[in-house]
Amino acid sequence: MAEVKWTKEQESAIYDKGSNILVAAAAGSGKTAVLVERILHKIVDEKIDIDKILVVTFTNAAASEMRQRILDGIYKKIEENPEERFLQKQITLLNKANICTIHSFCLETIKNYFYELDGFSANFRIGDTAEIELLKQDTLEEMLEKKYEEKEENLIRLVDTYTNYRGDEPLKEIILKVYDYIQSLPFPEKALKEAVEKFNRK
Ligand SMILES: Nc1ncnc2c1ncn2[C@@H]1O[C@H](COP(=O)(O)OP(=O)(O)OP(=O)(O)O)[C@@H](O)[C@H]1O
Ligand SMILES: [Mg+2]
Repeated sequence: MAEVKWTKEQESAIYDKGSNILVAAAAGSGKTAVLVERILHKIVDEKIDIDKILVVTFTNAAASEMRQRILDGIYKKIEENPEERFLQKQITLLNKANICTIHSFCLETIKNYFYELDGFSANFRIGDTAEIELLKQDTLEEMLEKKYEEKEENLIRLVDTYTNYRGDEPLKEIILKVYDYIQSLPFPEKALKEAVEKFNRK
């Protein structure tokens, strides 16, 4: 197969350094090819071991594809330079290289460093969606019960405003909605505090 002739934009995505790069292009236009070539360039020309590079994807399928295409790429380079020991070594290192989904990378990181995190025990596990939903409901229930007992003035005002004769379901819905929304932000609690601050007009 003839050498691929990269376009100018592809070349810049392969070789540019010192800044973040965002590649957005049409389906089948060569995004993965460019990413694989970028990694091969780091390995071959900059002599960086593949297990020192972190490659994360969203799906397992994409991670397998990346791993396979990097492996194919290394084999191709070995064919061109059969004597290159450094390249041979990369085949072995590829087995322990971090080419995985972002979720499995995060899980692995938490498993290895759980002791650095408050409230994490060594035998934590990932809850399924239904389980998490139940935990959320229970926690909310418990929290509200406690607050009702405290009869705090602000809470009573809130409850009066957002509940109806049938109970506090509307309030719970709002709390969960806000909770879900702030989870999509990098610093949920900080965002919440800032949002509250906006109402504190002096
Ligand atoms: N400049 C180029 N010249 C020739 N072929 C190219 C060029 N760039 C990419 N290709 C080829 O196009 C095909 C599709 O590339 P690739 O799978 O990387 O696309 P993609 O953008 O990742 O696709 P998808 O959106 O499906 O993930 C591959 O066979 C790749 O080698
Ligand atoms: Mg792709």
